[in-house]
Amino acid sequence: MADGFETRAIHAGQPPDPATGAVVPPISLATTFAQHGVGEHQGYEYARTANPIRAALEACLADLEGARHGAAYASGLAAEDAILRLLRPGDHVVIPDDAYGGTYRLLAGVHEAAGVQWSAVDLTDLDALASAWRDETRMVWVETPTNPLLTVVDIAGVATFAHERGARVVVDNTFATPYLQRPLALGADVVVHSATKYLGGHSDVVGGFAATNDDEIAARLRFVQNAAGAVPSPFDCYLVLRGVKTLAVRMDRHCANAGAIAQMLAGHRSVASVRYPGLPSHPGHDVAAKQMRAYGGMVSFTLAGGEEAALRVVASTRLFTLAESLGAVESLIEHPARMTHASAAGSPLAVDPALVRLSVGLETVDDLVADLAAALDGLA
Ligand SMILES: Cc1ncc(COP(=O)(O)O)c(C=O)c1O
Repeated sequence: MADGFETRAIHAGQPPDPATGAVVPPISLATTFAQHGVGEHQGYEYARTANPIRAALEACLADLEGARHGAAYASGLAAEDAILRLLRPGDHVVIPDDAYGGTYRLLAGVHEAAGVQWSAVDLTDLDALASAWRDETRMVWVETPTNPLLTVVDIAGVATFAHERGARVVVDNTFATPYLQRPLALGADVVVHSATKYLGGHSDVVGGFAATNDDEIAARLRFVQNAAGAVPSPFDCYLVLRGVKTLAVRMDRHCANAGAIAQMLAGHRSVASVRYPGLPSHPGHDVAAKQMRAYGGMVSFTLAGGEEAALRVVASTRLFTLAESLGAVESLIEHPARMTHASAAGSPLAVDPALVRLSVGLETVDDLVADLAAALDGLA
């Protein structure tokens, strides 16, 4: 019987160190590795190309995603950049119309200048995807649940559609993590992460990761990793690897706490709408129930009082810290239109200014509910 998720998160790619028996992979800071003769070495030559703790991290995360290959990068966006370099000038990629703002910025501000064409589409609607399709469409970029609207996209449905037309499917699995959702098993070709979020889990490391079962894609990702050199430091790899060991227990509690917050928000008079895939009222609830183990730790909502109310709420919580980023032990609150998604202003991906996004952490749930309720009551 195959080992379970928690077992693999703790042991995959990390046997006791053969040199010392250390149960934690040592951080090797070496930039270069001795060769017995020219080209004769133990798998490592130069640390940008490969190094032992990055290899451990890549093996562990690839295992958790059900992938044969994984490559770690200096940030989530560096991982995204490596994947987008699979495209050639003239190729077209479809992205979600509420993708993470940085994904949009990377495409519009970097890859478009290199000749890549793109369209932003509601990927919950296959007719819309069909309308946006071009002869040059080579890739569909899925994010699910999305940042910040928590839209849920049917990965298997999009994968079937794209594969019938010869395009590849990439899934940004940052919000769900491999504990809640495994895109490759659902038909995706590549899965990508900002490891800065739940994988690291403690707001103390920036990192990225991409995984695939396709040998050709893997070779290209590995080539770009080495050729462009956006690699994580050994210490950063250690921090992500340490975070991943507790991913399952953290995600269980993130989900439970977020569910309780979403319920409270849904019943509050100052709240116009709540976006949480675990609520039966969420348009993607059934798809989420089918493809996710549970519904995640992110909740977004709009205020009946519009942007002014949203700005007041984000400035008046005590436990929810006003800050960008997400996916760590402490709860965070932010205003996407002016913070994380400011780069999408004026574009088809611009965010409703009445929207507030929560990254629900692992504090005592009653304290979190009370904190948010007090901030909302203060609007009256
Ligand atoms: C869904 C998603 N993908 C990718 C990224 C980019 O990751 P990083 O900040 O590690 O470059 C983020 C960052 O917020 C994100 O939320």
